Amino acid sequence: MNTLLKLAATAALSVIALSSYAQPSNPYELPDPLKMEDGRIVKNKRQWINERRPELMEMLRSQMFGREPAADAAPDIHYTLLEESKDAFGGLATRRQVKISFDKDENYYLVLLMYIPNKHNGPVPAFLGPNFKGNHATTDDPEVLMPTKEKLATFAPGYKVEPRDANGHRWEYEYILSHGYAVATFCYNDVDPDFHDGFHNGIHGLIDGDKPRNGESWGSISAWAWSLSRCLDYLETVKEIDAKKVAVIGHSRLGKTSLWAGATDQRFALVISNDSGCSGAAIARRKFGETVAAINKSFPHWFCDNYKAYGGREEMMPWDQHELIAMIAPRPVYVASASEDSWADPVGEYFSLVGAASVYNLFGYDGITDRNVPGIEHPVVVGRMGHHIRKGEHNVRLYDWENYVAFADRFLK
Ligand code: GCU
Repeated sequence: MNTLLKLAATAALSVIALSSYAQPSNPYELPDPLKMEDGRIVKNKRQWINERRPELMEMLRSQMFGREPAADAAPDIHYTLLEESKDAFGGLATRRQVKISFDKDENYYLVLLMYIPNKHNGPVPAFLGPNFKGNHATTDDPEVLMPTKEKLATFAPGYKVEPRDANGHRWEYEYILSHGYAVATFCYNDVDPDFHDGFHNGIHGLIDGDKPRNGESWGSISAWAWSLSRCLDYLETVKEIDAKKVAVIGHSRLGKTSLWAGATDQRFALVISNDSGCSGAAIARRKFGETVAAINKSFPHWFCDNYKAYGGREEMMPWDQHELIAMIAPRPVYVASASEDSWADPVGEYFSLVGAASVYNLFGYDGITDRNVPGIEHPVVVGRMGHHIRKGEHNVRLYDWENYVAFADRFLK
């Protein structure tokens, strides 16, 4: 047994004993990411890439997120420029709003809002992430298009459109742009409205039609992750953006999504999970805050049906969430938490980095291995792993972006 992976609750708690999130969990033992199903131990990166990684991907697909369709499952995908201006934010950026249609008749589409810094020498790196409340709610920029009535009618019953800028604090566009990054976002409801309708709406309906579902059929998180890849396909066509330097980012359920997008699509150069919690970065076996049973009960459409069998039986899971982080290796990964966000288990989020470090080591990179959880607002970067716990609530704030930009500066500039 790899002693690094023997996680007893007491280990982490000395440093943060007074924090609200630092409650002990039961002792538990994590699966060793380097141990193959047949018992062999992975010795080098070639074995990881060719044997162990595919084995783990298969597990995560069949047991957790479901099997996403092929990249070309929507063969009529096409792009339409809806609006463009070089004068966004007083001339800081070019704004472009592009409709990415998944079918010929444009019944299924997302609208990608993009800002590209006007000052640049050659193609720029970018952040790409979905948003919760609509593009118009990410900024006070009055030119950002509102969702159409037809689009809103596909969202959850009773859905009320959010005011402009409702979530503007989560998208520090001017900060990001002034540091030389483009940024692109779309509303996740555009792709797959976030309610359980039996998988008829959104791109499940388009791609699967009446095909019967089974335990491994893809859920909504998989659908949102798949659409992030389709946005990256589009970014590959944008000459001002360096598509080999795109960081995928998401908050909360969309942080679970960014991790899965980073795992399934190795074109993403860097992956950021903000407060992703249960079924994102947090170790399931800790059963602290939200549990597998709780998440599947409240959100039965997020994962594949097979995942439901692990509710209350986390120790039977043949994997744990550190192995989702390991799927991102050797690319840089950042896991962030917030001190008051005990539902997302900040300690468990930290320990998934520790649990994945041995895989980064295979590639010659150090990882985070300190078993004392860092204090609040003491960001840590080791090798290609980054981490911080922001003071405050479940959210995305300027503090988070400052750390993401600094982390990206090391790898994408
Ligand atoms: C709920 C849910 C979490 C999720 C969060 C969010 O709290 O239980 O798993 O991360 O919503 O997406 O904001």
